[in-house]
Amino acid sequence: MLEIKNVSKSFRRSDGTVKALDGISLEIKEGEFFAVQGKSGSGKTTLLLIAGTILAPDSGEILFNGKKLYSLPLNERTAFRAEKIGFVFQQFHLVPYLTVYENIMLPSLVLKNTDLRKHAMELVENFGLAHRVTHLPSELSIGERQRTAMARAMIHSPDILLADEPTGNLDSENAEIILSAMRKFVALEKHILMVTHSNEAAEKADRALHIRNV
Ligand SMILES: Nc1ncnc2c1ncn2[C@@H]1O[C@H](COP(=O)(O)OP(=O)(O)OP(=O)(O)O)[C@@H](O)[C@H]1O
Ligand SMILES: [Mg+2]
Repeated sequence: MLEIKNVSKSFRRSDGTVKALDGISLEIKEGEFFAVQGKSGSGKTTLLLIAGTILAPDSGEILFNGKKLYSLPLNERTAFRAEKIGFVFQQFHLVPYLTVYENIMLPSLVLKNTDLRKHAMELVENFGLAHRVTHLPSELSIGERQRTAMARAMIHSPDILLADEPTGNLDSENAEIILSAMRKFVALEKHILMVTHSNEAAEKADRALHIRNV
């Protein structure tokens, strides 16, 4: 189970403080696809970065199967992130000098697991990227970049998939392909937290929570 417990986060700047999250709590059980919806600026990306052990909260806890992730020593937290988490960034963050295939295989390098080649090719086929495997990110459409980012997040079959607006740039047919892949993925006793503006995407989740601007 992934638990987000009473998490708050503000960003301090020279001209003042921006409050992004104010005491949010939620629990995602094994096999559950959870959606968080909210307006632009409501703190969705901030929440996902915190859940992904990328951005420490000011207060509150993130627990996975009872383990407090921000209490782990840095090397253990880094290893946890590499192995257990798949992250689809809102801006994708594909490595610009690696091809589609190399970007998707990136987690396998970190985890020193080359057995993932077959899975990479399955994802490529499934997400309609077979004709683009040797392209660089700059040679892709935005939707192709988004599908590459989802394949990279799923390649190592992480326990937790964190997806930031993963269908934001897709037509309805491709959105459906991605969302049904997410449903299949979560059925393997995984956890998904997706943040989105889209009602159609949120409807595919088991539960949805709305957050308001604070
Ligand atoms: N590093 C930062 N420094 C200062 N303010 C920030 C920082 N990151 C985010 N914010 C502010 O925190 C608030 C929440 O940002 P966040 O990116 O989480 O929103 P969001 O819900 O993901 O929005 P969108 O739907 O547009 O992606 C916004 O008002 C944003 O301006
Ligand atoms: Mg965002």
